[in-house]
Amino acid sequence: MSTVEKPWSGRFTAPTDAFVEAFTASVGFDQRLYEYDIMGSIAHARMLAHVGVLAAEECEQIVQGLTAVQQDIASGNWQWSIALEDVHMNIETRLTEKIGIVGKKLHTGRSRNDQVATDIRLYLRQEIDNIQAELQRLITALVNLAENETDTILPGFTHLQSAQPVTFGHHLLAWCEMLMRDRSRLQDCRARVNVMPLGAAALAGTSYPIDRHYTAQLLGFDGVAENSLDAVSDRDFAIEFSAAASLIMMHLSRFSEELILWSSAQFQFIDLSDAFCTGSSIMPQKKNPDVPELVRGKSGRVYGHLISLLTLMKSQPLAYNKDNQEDKEPIFDVVDTLRGSLKVYADMIPAITVKRDRMREATLAGFTTATDLADYLVKKGMPFRDAHEVVGLAVRHCIEQDCGLESLSLETFQQFSNLIQEDIYQVLTLEGSVAARNHFGGTAPAQVRQAIGRLRERLA
Ligand code: ARG
Repeated sequence: MSTVEKPWSGRFTAPTDAFVEAFTASVGFDQRLYEYDIMGSIAHARMLAHVGVLAAEECEQIVQGLTAVQQDIASGNWQWSIALEDVHMNIETRLTEKIGIVGKKLHTGRSRNDQVATDIRLYLRQEIDNIQAELQRLITALVNLAENETDTILPGFTHLQSAQPVTFGHHLLAWCEMLMRDRSRLQDCRARVNVMPLGAAALAGTSYPIDRHYTAQLLGFDGVAENSLDAVSDRDFAIEFSAAASLIMMHLSRFSEELILWSSAQFQFIDLSDAFCTGSSIMPQKKNPDVPELVRGKSGRVYGHLISLLTLMKSQPLAYNKDNQEDKEPIFDVVDTLRGSLKVYADMIPAITVKRDRMREATLAGFTTATDLADYLVKKGMPFRDAHEVVGLAVRHCIEQDCGLESLSLETFQQFSNLIQEDIYQVLTLEGSVAARNHFGGTAPAQVRQAIGRLRERLA
């Protein structure tokens, strides 16, 4: 049985069962919110003084006391108490120990329900900004690499079969576009996160003459929640954040998959730096792409948290329910996983070695310019379907002869179609193929250079 007196113990005659006390406590994980909790409390106290509910002197004592608590926690001169349930009651109890009964006035016109909703929003706002910084770093690293590789050619794939030549710069910019959409999703999400619940109190608001807009301004919120019941109960902003995070992890998992394939002995398109790989304890030749593999694996836990939060929220009646205490661990883990994955990717990309010769060799081996031959015939007047058939026959011939299209003699070409002339050889080069796709969004080096310029402007 607990011997600590609870802030809410007045209506109780028997102490909390020891297991129930531990089972219901959240301080083990919500202690992570302490800075935001103190920030919110300081703003609340200042607002109470502003409207005359607290004397200026009382407010100063509270602010100083909270600042001292903050220092204690930061310096480790602190012990969290399970008996005090959560981060909010731990801090408030300690405040009162430090400054006496004035500390007991802090909770005037407030409830832990609007307090915790405020804490999570402040925390998430900060973490979204941290995540955006990592995302920016990663996109910039990809754009820099793309700039070095505007003319590098590798096979573009469909169905993981060699399809058409593409420039590596173009391929990398595809990743940038996905991440740019992720970035704008986080921006949208931040706008809905940055709305202040404080003042909703337990659920119905409070009878004190509070000024919520004043508090919101102190805390840097863009708006004040319109409805007190909604303010304390919904966690849709956290679900939305987890959905945006899931999409980022999905993109990173696809990216990971390509890095893993490309660094394999079969592809050898790139080398990952040793700093991002590990060896095998039994096979001396191994260098494993652990970082991309782990990031690919970690996408699963983020999707899992998204589903947890959706399920947590489902069917909850208004307003606050204790169920919502279960929002924190998923939110924290989504943040940690996403932030870590983006950080390690932003560090790893600049350390990639591109094996241009291998990419070129692979592009030459896969009949990747067959479409160019068909397009050539179409430009000379042949209907596309017929051209497709003619090229198919030529490719079959090459497979039988074990050679590439570009090595056929003009006489041989003309057995397939007499429309084919000497100028075909330029069309069938890899450079000719990519340069021909010279329109907005295409793979031609000239287009890639322009796309890089536009991306840098969008990133600025
Ligand atoms: N620890 C709680 C949570 O995380 C704080 C709010 C508790 N409110 C309450 N009425 N018991 O949601």
